[in-house]
Amino acid sequence: MPIRPLDIDPTHCLIGGKWAPCDSGKTMPLINPSDGSALCDIALGGATDIDRAVAAARAAFDGPWGRATAVERGRVLQKIGALVLENIDELAKLEALDVGKPLTQARADVVALARYMEFYAGAVDKLHGQTIPYLDGYTVYTLREPHGVTGHIIPWNYPMQIIGRSVGAALATGNAAVLKPAEEACLTALAFGELARRAGLPDGALNVVSGTGAEAGAALTSHAGVNHISFTGSVGTGRLIQQAAAHNVVPVTLELGGKSPQLVFDDADIDAALPFLVNAGIQNAGQTCSASSRILVQRGVYDEVVGKMAERYGALRAGPAMADLAVGPLVSQRQKEIVEGFLAKGADLNKIAKGEVIPDAPSGGAYVAPSLFEGVSPDHTLAQDEIFGPVQVIIPFDDEAEALAIANGTAFGLVASVWSRDGARQMRLARALRSGQVFLNNYGAGGGVELPFGGSGLSGHGREKGFEALYGFTSLKTVAAYHG
Ligand code: NAI
Ligand code: MG
Repeated sequence: MPIRPLDIDPTHCLIGGKWAPCDSGKTMPLINPSDGSALCDIALGGATDIDRAVAAARAAFDGPWGRATAVERGRVLQKIGALVLENIDELAKLEALDVGKPLTQARADVVALARYMEFYAGAVDKLHGQTIPYLDGYTVYTLREPHGVTGHIIPWNYPMQIIGRSVGAALATGNAAVLKPAEEACLTALAFGELARRAGLPDGALNVVSGTGAEAGAALTSHAGVNHISFTGSVGTGRLIQQAAAHNVVPVTLELGGKSPQLVFDDADIDAALPFLVNAGIQNAGQTCSASSRILVQRGVYDEVVGKMAERYGALRAGPAMADLAVGPLVSQRQKEIVEGFLAKGADLNKIAKGEVIPDAPSGGAYVAPSLFEGVSPDHTLAQDEIFGPVQVIIPFDDEAEALAIANGTAFGLVASVWSRDGARQMRLARALRSGQVFLNNYGAGGGVELPFGGSGLSGHGREKGFEALYGFTSLKTVAAYHG
């Protein structure tokens, strides 16, 4: 099945500006999680394909792409962003079929991908160095330089958004990239490679090699020709990638998900909070690194929040991506099994509400009804571990100190929010929460491509999005000139 309207063969990889089968010629089926059918076959790239992709990236970096000015790179990115928006219907459909993402959410991801291109296109020619006062007779300044060849391992939950924030910032700063999308969902990564080519990105500046993590992924992250690795995915794989990066002594950015809390105080505007409390948990069927899976509620408003969240859960419907309901299927039967495993461990808990899988949802789809639990102990596995499904737990607290202890009481630290009208409390908690992002009386702020993002603890390290990503994808050179 060629990917329309771009006419890409998904059994091909993009290396050095050319689409071709991988060396082994092996393929694997890509599954549509809405019904379990095979969408198409994709290439199973391996170590020799990665070798060729890294060599092509190096040639681009040493050649036309490496010589392009910031303005020229920005223009190419602008053009990629424009092509992405021109193809919004097709890209959204591909993502919906591949990931199982409801169509409206998939469309939002296309817009976000375009926004990353626009933001980095406009930002990169404002990436200044510094002059540093030094000894008499010296002029000292700094240069921000690309790392060289960057490796990007992308998960299946937000392919377009994560390509945007990671590959977008890497290309903007003049790196040449090798992208290994997830084997569960990689069609928009292939489409992005083709759109970038059509926008005039020089051959080899972006290479896309699909394949499994164990083969193509491991070959990329352990490759001695790669100068920086960006990874989003599981903690376990993140550890392997950091080890591979350690061997080659290259920087690595890890974004490994979380157990992000929302703290709801007695003085909060509950009705303003409610849509955020629920949506941040069930968006993309809960398969979101920054999903808010823990809702911490002060006792004075506990019953009200529990009741109102339960009401919203009761109205949630899960069904095929193309039906565009609030919740789609999970990405795979494997992910469904992981989530059902957690639900089994929550059998002792008070499940207060459940959404419904619509009756005509195909039986081969990976559906899980959204589930809401209350009165959950902060140390229960459902309150500690990343579930990556449409499951939220509500935890009561008495005062600010207890709320903070619970909020900071997991191994993760990605996103947190505080719902309260007390400005001093907002400021105290914004400082005290161990979290890469803190939102005050909102959650997620619309995903904001401008907002630096990343975690602490098991959520990982390094920052993507916003200007910070431009620092992350460059290294700093200090030039000290003696002129007397
Ligand atoms: P994963 O971390 O194994 O996969 C993510 C990406 O890493 C994929 O492209 C995969 O091919 C690649 N990969 C796997 N093993 C690799 C290796 N040894 N070397 C290099 N690359 C490798 O995650 P998976 O198995 O798809 O999902 C399992 C759990 O991970 C989920 O239930 C969820 O908790 C978490 N996860 C978190 C994400 C996030 O956004 N932070 C995204 C995806 C998964
Ligand atoms: Mg898929």
